[in-house]
Amino acid sequence: MDPRRILLAVSGGIAAYKTPELVRALRARGHDVRCMLTAAAERFVTPLVLQTLTGRSVRRELFDAGEEGEIDHIGLADWADLVVIAPATANLMAKMVQGLADDLVSTVLLATRAPLLVAPAMNVNMWGHPATRENVERLRHRGVTFVGPEAGELACGWEGLGRMSDPGRIADAADALLVAPSLRGERVVVTAGGTAEPIDAVRSVTNRSSGKMGFAIAAEAARRGADVVLIAGVTSLPTPHGVRRVDARSALEMREAVLAELDAATIVVKAAAVADFRPAAPSARKIKKEDLGDGASITLELVPNPDILAEISARKGSRTIVGFAAESHDVVEAARRKLARKGCDLIVANDISRADAGFEVDENAVRFVWPSGEVEELPLLPKSGVAAQLFDRIEKLRGGR
Ligand code: PMT
Repeated sequence: MDPRRILLAVSGGIAAYKTPELVRALRARGHDVRCMLTAAAERFVTPLVLQTLTGRSVRRELFDAGEEGEIDHIGLADWADLVVIAPATANLMAKMVQGLADDLVSTVLLATRAPLLVAPAMNVNMWGHPATRENVERLRHRGVTFVGPEAGELACGWEGLGRMSDPGRIADAADALLVAPSLRGERVVVTAGGTAEPIDAVRSVTNRSSGKMGFAIAAEAARRGADVVLIAGVTSLPTPHGVRRVDARSALEMREAVLAELDAATIVVKAAAVADFRPAAPSARKIKKEDLGDGASITLELVPNPDILAEISARKGSRTIVGFAAESHDVVEAARRKLARKGCDLIVANDISRADAGFEVDENAVRFVWPSGEVEELPLLPKSGVAAQLFDRIEKLRGGR
């Protein structure tokens, strides 16, 4: 593992006494470590110990002129390749969920785009409380990784889940998260989700895309150090950590958003399911049944939407542009035709006739269809795995330029 920059956030629980060991474990792996403490953490571990072990001053205050002279809180947030929060109290996790920024630690956690590794430690009943369960789920959903807590005898006298993981285990989890920043310097634009084409003020024509595939792609690009813009269509997913999100509901809005980001983009991945057609004359008001008369039917006239992928591929320059294709039959042939018609560098073809892949589910089975005619078939993988495979290919393409 190459040495990386790890920011250790310590909050106020008894397990904070183990953080000097954690610092030593991270330093033994060659990492550069800085520490920041909440006010409560200082009651369990002294800044002097952590300063001595890291060789760097320990940050405690949001507004401290002396400390600010060295590295300010945004500098600290940007410095980190990974932020480890150990121990993470129930209170700090609740603040992370709410996006509170009322001290140095919570502010840096809100500002950083680095991946977050949380090592909770608390009383077994606090860990089991519905509020904490919900907070953990919400953080997981945002892409935060957890290590522990472990079961055992707790400092408070109770037994059960709540012990902070051992420093060695936390350091292993940190190493597992520290993928090489192989996309640093790249600006990746990802589209995700379906579009909704308005019929009237309340109704629209839409599709089954959940956004899961595109969100996984955006998260993977961020993990690899890219500057990521996620253009999200219709989806209820939370924004992955470290990603800038732009919402665009209809195909026309999505086109505008993509074009606005295109100049700065070096890689574009179009995983969104964009409607090919939209109602020709959407009504600004709700169409009411009683205004139409009893038993009346409506005929919707649909007009073609602009093909965003074809449009940006025509302006490709040195960019890498990847399209997706959702196909229910003749998957490879249809993807090849799309690749030729749209002019992108690669098409990722989904077989949407499978119930266990494609729309809505957490896994996908794709084929990479290349302009050379080559087809690579991947096994059924979590969407995060498909995203990783995709960026391995994109990195090779960019390296070859
Ligand atoms: O969101 P999930 O539930 O996780 O599902 C993932 C997915 C199945 C939606 C995704 O993996 C996928 O296949 N997305 C593309 C679906 C699609 O719209 O395919 P298409 O064959 O209609 O379009 C081909 C390509 O052209 C796509 O990259 C699409 O973004 C793009 N396109 C299409 C129409 C249009 N007007 N403009 C476009 O840019």
